[in-house]
Amino acid sequence: MMDLKQEMQKRCNDIEKALENALPKQTEFPPVIFDAMRYSLLAGGKRLRPMLLLAACEAVGGRKEDAVDFACALEMIHTYSLIHDDLPAMDNDDYRRGRLTSHKVYGEAMAILAGDGLLHHAMETMAIACEKNPSAQTTGAMRAIAHGAGIFGMLTGQVVDVFFEGQPLAQETLDFIHLHKTAAMIRGALEAGAILGGADEKTVQTFALAGEKIGVAFQILDDILDVTATTEELGKPVHSDEKNQKTTYVTLYGIEKSREIAAGLSAEAVKIWKQQGEGCAFLLALTEYLTDRKF
Ligand code: IPE
Ligand code: IPE
Ligand code: MG
Ligand code: MG
Ligand code: MG
Repeated sequence: MMDLKQEMQKRCNDIEKALENALPKQTEFPPVIFDAMRYSLLAGGKRLRPMLLLAACEAVGGRKEDAVDFACALEMIHTYSLIHDDLPAMDNDDYRRGRLTSHKVYGEAMAILAGDGLLHHAMETMAIACEKNPSAQTTGAMRAIAHGAGIFGMLTGQVVDVFFEGQPLAQETLDFIHLHKTAAMIRGALEAGAILGGADEKTVQTFALAGEKIGVAFQILDDILDVTATTEELGKPVHSDEKNQKTTYVTLYGIEKSREIAAGLSAEAVKIWKQQGEGCAFLLALTEYLTDRKF
């Protein structure tokens, strides 16, 4: 039986090192943009998406060395989405990952550019990885990640989230938001990892489906924690959703029922990992851990 916390910490440390290597040196000109990119990317964070990508690759028999550039790129894109999500024009939050948000430190213009910088550096990182190892696997992984982040994924989720701020929403609309703004990137992580590990199409689609379940559950938990946790625990402000008049599962169903719905979605993902066999033991344990997460 593995010690999950220890295993997660070890994997997290490896990801931190890889991220440090994947970023341009601070000595490049002009330093402010490289500083701002490092400030947000190397600020900690759970590193869930790269962890899922690497675990998926290994679960289907691949080598994590072949996936690490894509894992870093995915975390760069995720971090860019957080910098922009916190901007005054969006959620207007002052803390992220336990420190002041990018726009509080560098100003709004530089925060926008730091987000853009991370997005473009992610694309270049993946393109270089594709050149080093040209294959259907590497281009397929890049496509899955870009798809999860873009106008068919996270970005559109953010559009709808912002568009309906202040209005009551039906569950279908909220599910669209969760599936896109959060689950699409988690789906992309598992899909890309499985592709890089050489999985067949059916397995890739099964991993993608597990990603959707985990992703929606993850956002429901995020909305619950916004109400029940503390700023110290989360490293970001609580009651951000109330401030921005967001409809969430919590406002629709209350905390207990929302927890049950999230647990049900996680259970569906756990069932998938069980069906996939021993190779998915870490993914299974991580999925169960996330259902009960405190931050
Ligand atoms: C925050 O993601 C944004 C959501 C999709 C809820 P995480 O909770 O994974 O944030 P970090 O990466 O750990 O900071
Ligand atoms: C944002 O959802 C998801 C992203 C795509 C960044 P939230 O706005 O709820 O995320 P937090 O609570 O600020 O991390
Ligand atoms: Mg938001
Ligand atoms: Mg936010
Ligand atoms: Mg939130």
